[in-house]
Amino acid sequence: MLHTVRFLCSVVAAVARLIRELRRRTALLMASSTCSPSPVVTPCPAGLISAFTPLPSRRKKAAAVQKQPLAVAPPAAVLPNGEQAEGRRTKKEAWAARRRPARLVIPVADDVGEVAAGWGAAAANAAAKEADVVVEGEGFRVASRAGPRHAMEDAYAVVTHKNDGDPQLAFYGVFDGHGGRAAVDFVSRRLGENVVSAVLAAATCEEASPTAAEEEEDAVSAAIRLAYLATDSELLAQHQQGVTGGGSCAATAVVKGGELYVAHVGDCRAVLSHNGGAAAALTADHTCAADSERQRIERDGGYVCRSGGSGVWRVQGSLAVSRSFGDAGLKRWVVAEPAVTKVVLAGGECEFLVVASDGLWDKVGNQEAVDVVSRNRTTACEELVDLARRRGSRDDVTVMVIDLERFV
Ligand SMILES: *[C@@H]1O[C@H](CO)[C@@H](O)[C@H](O)[C@H]1NC(C)=O
Repeated sequence: MLHTVRFLCSVVAAVARLIRELRRRTALLMASSTCSPSPVVTPCPAGLISAFTPLPSRRKKAAAVQKQPLAVAPPAAVLPNGEQAEGRRTKKEAWAARRRPARLVIPVADDVGEVAAGWGAAAANAAAKEADVVVEGEGFRVASRAGPRHAMEDAYAVVTHKNDGDPQLAFYGVFDGHGGRAAVDFVSRRLGENVVSAVLAAATCEEASPTAAEEEEDAVSAAIRLAYLATDSELLAQHQQGVTGGGSCAATAVVKGGELYVAHVGDCRAVLSHNGGAAAALTADHTCAADSERQRIERDGGYVCRSGGSGVWRVQGSLAVSRSFGDAGLKRWVVAEPAVTKVVLAGGECEFLVVASDGLWDKVGNQEAVDVVSRNRTTACEELVDLARRRGSRDDVTVMVIDLERFV
Protein backbone atom coordinates (compact mmCIF):
# COMPACT_ATOMS: atom_id res chain seq x y z
CA MET A 1 0.00 0.00 0.00
CA LEU A 2 2.74 2.39 1.04
CA HIS A 3 4.69 1.44 -2.05
CA THR A 4 1.71 2.09 -4.23
CA VAL A 5 1.33 5.53 -2.68
CA ARG A 6 5.00 6.32 -3.26
CA PHE A 7 4.81 5.16 -6.80
CA LEU A 8 1.77 7.32 -7.42
CA CYS A 9 3.57 10.23 -5.80
CA SER A 10 6.36 9.85 -8.34
CA VAL A 11 4.04 9.70 -11.25
CA VAL A 12 1.90 12.60 -10.09
CA ALA A 13 4.94 14.78 -9.49
CA ALA A 14 6.24 13.93 -12.94
CA VAL A 15 2.99 14.82 -14.60
CA ALA A 16 2.54 17.99 -12.58
CA ARG A 17 5.97 19.24 -13.45
CA LEU A 18 5.52 18.37 -17.07
CA ILE A 19 2.23 20.21 -17.23
CA ARG A 20 3.66 23.25 -15.42
CA GLU A 21 6.52 23.34 -17.85
CA LEU A 22 4.23 22.99 -20.87
CA ARG A 23 1.94 25.75 -19.62
CA ARG A 24 4.86 28.05 -19.01
CA ARG A 25 6.29 27.33 -22.42
CA THR A 26 2.95 27.86 -24.10
CA ALA A 27 2.45 31.16 -22.25
CA LEU A 28 5.91 32.35 -23.28
CA LEU A 29 5.29 31.32 -26.83
CA MET A 30 1.99 33.10 -27.03
CA ALA A 31 3.38 36.22 -25.39
CA SER A 32 6.28 36.39 -27.79
CA SER A 33 4.43 35.47 -30.93
CA THR A 34 2.18 38.51 -30.76
CA CYS A 35 5.08 40.85 -31.40
CA SER A 36 7.63 38.55 -32.90
CA PRO A 37 9.95 39.82 -35.59
CA SER A 38 10.44 37.62 -38.58
CA PRO A 39 12.89 34.83 -38.00
CA VAL A 40 16.47 35.94 -38.25
CA VAL A 41 18.38 33.47 -40.30
CA THR A 42 21.61 33.56 -42.13
CA PRO A 43 20.98 33.04 -45.81
CA CYS A 44 22.96 30.22 -47.20
CA PRO A 45 23.36 28.79 -50.65
CA ALA A 46 21.74 25.55 -51.61
CA GLY A 47 22.48 22.44 -49.83
CA LEU A 48 21.72 23.03 -46.41
CA ILE A 49 21.69 21.87 -43.09
CA SER A 50 19.69 23.74 -40.61
CA ALA A 51 20.74 23.86 -37.09
CA PHE A 52 18.94 24.95 -34.01
CA THR A 53 21.07 26.98 -31.71
CA PRO A 54 22.01 25.28 -28.48
CA LEU A 55 20.50 27.14 -25.61
CA PRO A 56 21.87 27.45 -22.16
CA SER A 57 18.60 28.24 -20.46
CA ARG A 58 14.93 27.56 -20.73
CA ARG A 59 14.11 31.19 -21.21
CA LYS A 60 16.35 31.47 -24.23
CA LYS A 61 14.93 28.26 -25.50
CA ALA A 62 11.43 29.65 -25.52
CA ALA A 63 12.65 32.61 -27.51
CA ALA A 64 14.29 30.34 -30.05
CA VAL A 65 11.20 28.24 -30.43
CA GLN A 66 9.44 31.39 -31.40
CA LYS A 67 12.15 32.09 -33.95
CA GLN A 68 11.68 28.71 -35.54
CA PRO A 69 7.96 28.47 -36.11
CA LEU A 70 6.88 24.95 -36.82
CA ALA A 71 4.92 25.89 -39.86
CA VAL A 72 7.97 26.85 -41.86
CA ALA A 73 9.20 24.73 -44.70
CA PRO A 74 12.51 22.92 -44.31
CA PRO A 75 14.75 25.69 -43.08
CA ALA A 76 17.24 26.88 -45.65
CA ALA A 77 19.67 28.37 -43.30
CA VAL A 78 22.53 27.70 -41.04
CA LEU A 79 22.27 29.21 -37.64
CA PRO A 80 25.81 29.61 -36.44
CA ASN A 81 26.06 27.96 -33.10
CA GLY A 82 29.73 27.31 -32.69
CA GLU A 83 30.13 30.46 -30.63
CA GLN A 84 27.95 29.19 -27.89
CA ALA A 85 29.67 25.88 -27.95
CA GLU A 86 33.09 27.42 -27.50
CA GLY A 87 35.52 25.52 -25.39
CA ARG A 88 33.39 22.43 -25.44
CA ARG A 89 34.44 19.05 -26.66
CA THR A 90 32.94 19.53 -30.03
CA LYS A 91 34.01 18.83 -33.53
CA LYS A 92 32.59 19.21 -36.95
CA GLU A 93 33.55 17.54 -40.11
CA ALA A 94 32.31 16.28 -43.40
CA TRP A 95 33.31 12.86 -44.48
CA ALA A 96 32.72 13.16 -48.17
CA ALA A 97 34.64 15.86 -49.92
CA ARG A 98 32.38 15.84 -52.94
CA ARG A 99 29.53 16.93 -50.78
CA ARG A 100 28.91 20.19 -49.10
CA PRO A 101 30.71 20.34 -45.79
CA ALA A 102 28.59 19.05 -42.99
CA ARG A 103 27.14 21.43 -40.48
CA LEU A 104 26.14 20.39 -37.12
CA VAL A 105 24.45 21.04 -33.89
CA ILE A 106 26.35 20.71 -30.71
CA PRO A 107 24.39 19.94 -27.60
CA VAL A 108 25.80 21.92 -24.75
CA ALA A 109 24.98 21.57 -21.10
CA ASP A 110 25.65 24.38 -18.69
CA ASP A 111 26.90 23.75 -15.20
CA VAL A 112 24.17 25.27 -13.11
CA GLY A 113 21.62 22.54 -12.96
CA GLU A 114 19.21 23.93 -15.49
CA VAL A 115 18.03 21.67 -18.21
CA ALA A 116 20.24 22.57 -21.10
CA ALA A 117 19.47 21.33 -24.53
CA GLY A 118 20.70 21.22 -28.01
CA TRP A 119 18.91 19.62 -30.82
CA GLY A 120 19.42 19.33 -34.43
CA ALA A 121 17.86 18.40 -37.65
CA ALA A 122 19.59 18.08 -40.93
CA ALA A 123 17.57 19.24 -43.87
CA ALA A 124 18.41 18.84 -47.49
CA ASN A 125 16.36 21.09 -49.70
CA ALA A 126 15.18 20.33 -53.19
CA ALA A 127 18.26 21.82 -54.82
CA ALA A 128 20.71 19.66 -52.93
CA LYS A 129 19.13 16.36 -52.15
CA GLU A 130 22.02 14.88 -50.39
CA ALA A 131 23.47 16.23 -47.21
CA ASP A 132 25.76 14.86 -44.60
CA VAL A 133 25.95 15.78 -40.98
CA VAL A 134 28.44 14.52 -38.47
CA VAL A 135 28.17 15.52 -34.85
CA GLU A 136 30.46 14.63 -32.03
CA GLY A 137 29.61 15.60 -28.47
CA GLU A 138 30.08 14.38 -24.95
CA GLY A 139 29.97 10.62 -25.20
CA PHE A 140 28.18 10.32 -28.48
CA ARG A 141 28.60 10.64 -32.20
CA VAL A 142 26.00 10.96 -34.97
CA ALA A 143 26.15 10.72 -38.73
CA SER A 144 23.16 11.50 -40.90
CA ARG A 145 22.59 11.51 -44.63
CA ALA A 146 19.47 12.39 -46.56
CA GLY A 147 18.10 9.95 -49.09
CA PRO A 148 18.77 11.00 -52.67
CA ARG A 149 15.18 11.45 -53.72
CA HIS A 150 13.51 13.55 -51.11
CA ALA A 151 13.98 16.10 -48.37
CA MET A 152 15.60 14.92 -45.18
CA GLU A 153 13.12 13.69 -42.62
CA ASP A 154 15.46 12.28 -39.99
CA ALA A 155 16.60 14.18 -36.92
CA TYR A 156 18.37 13.60 -33.65
CA ALA A 157 18.47 15.26 -30.25
CA VAL A 158 20.64 15.24 -27.18
CA VAL A 159 19.72 16.80 -23.86
CA THR A 160 21.91 16.70 -20.80
CA HIS A 161 21.20 17.84 -17.32
CA LYS A 162 23.99 18.77 -14.97
CA ASN A 163 24.17 19.80 -11.37
CA ASP A 164 27.35 21.77 -10.57
CA GLY A 165 28.95 20.23 -13.61
CA ASP A 166 28.06 16.77 -12.41
CA PRO A 167 26.11 14.97 -15.12
CA GLN A 168 22.82 13.80 -13.66
CA LEU A 169 20.94 12.69 -16.67
CA ALA A 170 21.44 12.40 -20.40
CA PHE A 171 18.88 11.94 -23.13
CA TYR A 172 19.65 10.84 -26.68
CA GLY A 173 17.20 10.41 -29.52
CA VAL A 174 17.00 9.51 -33.19
CA PHE A 175 13.84 10.43 -35.08
CA ASP A 176 12.48 9.42 -38.47
CA GLY A 177 9.64 11.54 -39.81
CA HIS A 178 7.17 10.92 -42.60
CA GLY A 179 4.73 13.12 -44.45
CA GLY A 180 6.89 16.24 -44.18
CA ARG A 181 9.21 17.70 -41.58
CA ALA A 182 6.67 19.29 -39.26
CA ALA A 183 6.22 16.32 -36.94
CA VAL A 184 9.86 15.30 -36.78
CA ASP A 185 10.96 18.89 -36.14
CA PHE A 186 8.48 19.17 -33.33
CA VAL A 187 9.28 15.86 -31.69
CA SER A 188 13.05 16.30 -31.95
CA ARG A 189 12.73 19.61 -30.12
CA ARG A 190 10.26 18.69 -27.44
CA LEU A 191 10.57 15.05 -26.53
CA GLY A 192 13.99 15.31 -24.87
CA GLU A 193 12.98 18.18 -22.68
CA ASN A 194 9.71 16.58 -21.74
CA VAL A 195 11.47 13.35 -20.85
CA VAL A 196 14.17 15.10 -18.82
CA SER A 197 11.60 17.20 -16.92
CA ALA A 198 9.47 14.18 -16.14
CA VAL A 199 12.40 12.00 -15.08
CA LEU A 200 13.84 14.71 -12.81
CA ALA A 201 10.46 15.24 -11.21
CA ALA A 202 10.11 11.52 -10.60
CA ALA A 203 13.56 11.46 -9.01
CA THR A 204 12.76 14.39 -6.72
CA CYS A 205 9.73 12.61 -5.45
CA GLU A 206 11.77 9.48 -4.87
CA GLU A 207 14.29 11.31 -2.69
CA ALA A 208 11.50 12.04 -0.24
CA SER A 209 10.97 8.31 0.19
CA PRO A 210 14.38 6.72 -0.27
CA THR A 211 13.25 3.24 0.66
CA ALA A 212 11.10 3.09 -2.43
CA ALA A 213 14.04 2.29 -4.67
CA GLU A 214 12.14 -0.41 -6.47
CA GLU A 215 9.29 1.93 -7.26
CA GLU A 216 11.59 4.71 -8.40
CA GLU A 217 12.85 2.50 -11.19
CA ASP A 218 9.32 2.02 -12.34
CA ALA A 219 8.75 5.72 -11.92
CA VAL A 220 11.51 6.58 -14.39
CA SER A 221 9.99 4.31 -17.02
CA ALA A 222 6.56 5.73 -16.22
CA ALA A 223 7.90 9.27 -16.55
CA ILE A 224 9.39 8.47 -19.95
CA ARG A 225 6.13 6.93 -21.08
CA LEU A 226 4.15 9.95 -19.91
CA ALA A 227 6.57 12.31 -21.63
CA TYR A 228 6.08 10.42 -24.91
CA LEU A 229 2.32 10.66 -24.60
CA ALA A 230 2.44 14.34 -23.57
CA THR A 231 4.66 15.15 -26.54
CA ASP A 232 2.24 13.39 -28.87
CA SER A 233 -0.67 15.39 -27.40
CA GLU A 234 1.24 18.62 -27.93
CA LEU A 235 1.97 17.66 -31.51
CA LEU A 236 -1.65 16.78 -32.22
CA ALA A 237 -2.72 20.11 -30.72
CA GLN A 238 -0.33 21.84 -33.14
CA HIS A 239 -1.87 19.92 -36.01
CA GLN A 240 -5.28 21.17 -35.01
CA GLN A 241 -3.94 24.71 -35.27
CA GLY A 242 -3.32 24.15 -38.92
CA VAL A 243 0.21 22.83 -39.03
CA THR A 244 0.33 20.07 -41.59
CA GLY A 245 0.18 16.49 -40.41
CA GLY A 246 2.63 13.70 -40.84
CA GLY A 247 4.26 11.76 -38.09
CA SER A 248 7.54 10.63 -36.60
CA CYS A 249 9.10 7.50 -35.20
CA ALA A 250 11.61 7.75 -32.38
CA ALA A 251 14.13 5.71 -30.44
CA THR A 252 15.54 7.33 -27.33
CA ALA A 253 17.94 6.51 -24.54
CA VAL A 254 18.02 8.00 -21.05
CA VAL A 255 21.00 7.37 -18.82
CA LYS A 256 20.42 8.12 -15.17
CA GLY A 257 22.13 6.83 -12.06
CA GLY A 258 24.03 4.12 -13.91
CA GLU A 259 20.90 2.82 -15.58
CA LEU A 260 19.93 2.94 -19.22
CA TYR A 261 16.29 3.33 -20.27
CA VAL A 262 15.59 2.78 -23.94
CA ALA A 263 12.20 3.73 -25.32
CA HIS A 264 10.80 3.81 -28.83
CA VAL A 265 7.79 4.10 -31.09
CA GLY A 266 7.89 2.87 -34.67
CA ASP A 267 10.87 1.39 -36.47
CA CYS A 268 13.84 3.36 -35.19
CA ARG A 269 15.97 0.82 -33.37
CA ALA A 270 18.47 0.74 -30.49
CA VAL A 271 21.04 -2.05 -30.38
CA LEU A 272 23.29 -2.63 -27.38
CA SER A 273 26.84 -3.93 -27.54
CA HIS A 274 27.60 -5.94 -24.41
CA ASN A 275 30.07 -8.50 -23.14
CA GLY A 276 32.78 -7.65 -25.62
CA GLY A 277 30.73 -6.92 -28.71
CA ALA A 278 27.60 -9.08 -28.60
CA ALA A 279 24.61 -7.28 -30.15
CA ALA A 280 21.25 -7.15 -28.39
CA ALA A 281 18.31 -5.21 -29.79
CA LEU A 282 16.62 -3.25 -27.01
CA THR A 283 13.67 -2.31 -29.20
CA ALA A 284 11.25 -4.39 -31.25
CA ASP A 285 10.10 -2.52 -34.36
CA HIS A 286 6.50 -1.37 -34.18
CA THR A 287 5.27 -2.48 -37.58
CA CYS A 288 2.32 -4.56 -38.62
CA ALA A 289 4.69 -7.41 -39.40
CA ALA A 290 4.50 -8.04 -35.63
CA ASP A 291 1.50 -10.22 -34.78
CA SER A 292 0.88 -8.39 -31.52
CA GLU A 293 0.65 -5.03 -33.28
CA ARG A 294 -1.63 -6.37 -35.99
CA GLN A 295 -3.89 -7.92 -33.38
CA ARG A 296 -3.98 -4.73 -31.31
CA ILE A 297 -5.04 -2.69 -34.33
CA GLU A 298 -7.67 -5.18 -35.42
CA ARG A 299 -9.01 -5.46 -31.88
CA ASP A 300 -9.52 -1.69 -31.95
CA GLY A 301 -11.46 -1.86 -35.21
CA GLY A 302 -8.67 -0.98 -37.61
CA TYR A 303 -7.50 -3.02 -40.55
CA VAL A 304 -4.11 -4.00 -41.75
CA CYS A 305 -3.25 -5.10 -45.24
CA ARG A 306 -0.31 -5.82 -47.48
CA SER A 307 -0.14 -3.40 -50.30
CA GLY A 308 1.88 -2.92 -53.45
CA GLY A 309 4.63 -5.09 -54.76
CA SER A 310 6.71 -4.66 -51.65
CA GLY A 311 4.38 -6.72 -49.48
CA VAL A 312 4.72 -4.24 -46.63
CA TRP A 313 1.96 -4.41 -44.05
CA ARG A 314 0.18 -1.11 -43.66
CA VAL A 315 -2.27 0.28 -41.11
CA GLN A 316 -5.54 1.17 -42.87
CA GLY A 317 -3.67 0.46 -46.07
CA SER A 318 -1.46 3.50 -45.66
CA LEU A 319 1.13 3.66 -42.88
CA ALA A 320 3.92 1.12 -42.54
CA VAL A 321 4.60 1.71 -38.86
CA SER A 322 2.09 0.81 -36.19
CA ARG A 323 3.12 3.43 -33.60
CA SER A 324 4.33 6.97 -34.04
CA PHE A 325 4.04 10.55 -32.92
CA GLY A 326 1.44 12.48 -34.89
CA ASP A 327 -0.42 10.78 -37.74
CA ALA A 328 -3.60 12.33 -36.39
CA GLY A 329 -5.86 10.61 -38.91
CA LEU A 330 -4.75 7.18 -37.72
CA LYS A 331 -4.30 8.01 -34.03
CA ARG A 332 -6.87 5.52 -32.86
CA TRP A 333 -4.50 2.73 -33.95
CA VAL A 334 -1.14 4.37 -34.47
CA VAL A 335 -0.48 5.22 -30.83
CA ALA A 336 2.52 6.95 -29.25
CA GLU A 337 2.66 4.53 -26.32
CA PRO A 338 6.35 3.61 -26.17
CA ALA A 339 7.97 0.34 -25.23
CA VAL A 340 10.51 1.04 -22.46
CA THR A 341 13.41 -1.25 -21.62
CA LYS A 342 15.76 -0.82 -18.68
CA VAL A 343 19.36 -2.01 -18.55
CA VAL A 344 21.63 -1.76 -15.50
CA LEU A 345 25.03 -0.49 -16.62
CA ALA A 346 26.94 -1.35 -13.44
CA GLY A 347 29.57 -4.01 -13.94
CA GLY A 348 30.85 -2.60 -17.19
CA GLU A 349 29.50 -5.28 -19.50
CA CYS A 350 27.84 -2.71 -21.73
CA GLU A 351 30.10 -0.96 -24.22
CA PHE A 352 27.92 1.22 -26.39
CA LEU A 353 24.49 1.72 -27.89
CA VAL A 354 23.75 2.14 -31.59
CA VAL A 355 20.53 4.08 -32.25
CA ALA A 356 19.50 4.47 -35.87
CA SER A 357 16.64 5.05 -38.25
CA ASP A 358 15.31 2.22 -40.40
CA GLY A 359 17.40 3.49 -43.31
CA LEU A 360 20.29 1.68 -41.61
CA TRP A 361 18.48 -1.38 -40.29
CA ASP A 362 16.87 -2.18 -43.63
CA LYS A 363 20.35 -2.89 -44.97
CA VAL A 364 22.61 -3.66 -42.04
CA GLY A 365 22.13 -6.32 -39.38
CA ASN A 366 22.32 -5.66 -35.64
CA GLN A 367 25.49 -7.67 -35.06
CA GLU A 368 27.07 -6.29 -38.18
CA ALA A 369 26.49 -2.73 -36.98
CA VAL A 370 27.98 -3.52 -33.58
CA ASP A 371 31.00 -5.12 -35.27
CA VAL A 372 31.64 -2.01 -37.35
CA VAL A 373 31.47 0.19 -34.25
CA SER A 374 33.71 -2.17 -32.27
CA ARG A 375 36.40 -1.93 -34.95
CA ASN A 376 36.66 1.85 -34.85
CA ARG A 377 34.25 4.01 -32.93
CA THR A 378 35.61 7.23 -34.38
CA THR A 379 34.65 6.44 -37.94
CA ALA A 380 31.79 3.99 -37.31
CA CYS A 381 28.79 6.26 -37.81
CA GLU A 382 29.99 7.42 -41.22
CA GLU A 383 30.98 3.89 -42.19
CA LEU A 384 27.53 2.57 -41.34
CA VAL A 385 25.80 5.32 -43.30
CA ASP A 386 28.07 4.56 -46.27
CA LEU A 387 27.41 0.83 -45.93
CA ALA A 388 23.63 1.28 -45.98
CA ARG A 389 23.89 3.50 -49.02
CA ARG A 390 26.24 1.13 -50.85
CA ARG A 391 23.71 -1.63 -50.31
CA GLY A 392 21.08 0.42 -52.02
CA SER A 393 19.29 2.31 -49.27
CA ARG A 394 17.35 5.21 -50.79
CA ASP A 395 16.07 6.29 -47.41
CA ASP A 396 17.43 8.85 -44.98
CA VAL A 397 20.00 7.22 -42.74
CA THR A 398 20.85 8.47 -39.25
CA VAL A 399 23.20 6.59 -36.95
CA MET A 400 24.06 7.58 -33.37
CA VAL A 401 26.61 5.77 -31.23
CA ILE A 402 26.47 6.41 -27.48
CA ASP A 403 29.41 5.46 -25.29
CA LEU A 404 28.03 3.67 -22.24
CA GLU A 405 31.29 2.95 -20.45
CA ARG A 406 31.60 6.55 -19.38
CA PHE A 407 28.44 6.26 -17.30
CA VAL A 408 29.62 3.36 -15.16
C1 LIG B 1 40.00 4.85 -36.52
O1 LIG B 1 40.06 5.48 -37.78
C2 LIG B 1 40.75 6.71 -37.75
C3 LIG B 1 40.61 7.34 -39.12
O2 LIG B 1 40.89 6.43 -40.14
C4 LIG B 1 42.20 6.48 -37.37
O3 LIG B 1 42.89 7.70 -37.34
C5 LIG B 1 42.24 5.82 -36.01
O4 LIG B 1 43.57 5.49 -35.68
C6 LIG B 1 41.38 4.56 -36.01
N1 LIG B 1 41.32 4.04 -34.67
C7 LIG B 1 41.52 2.77 -34.38
C8 LIG B 1 41.37 2.39 -32.95
O5 LIG B 1 41.81 1.96 -35.23
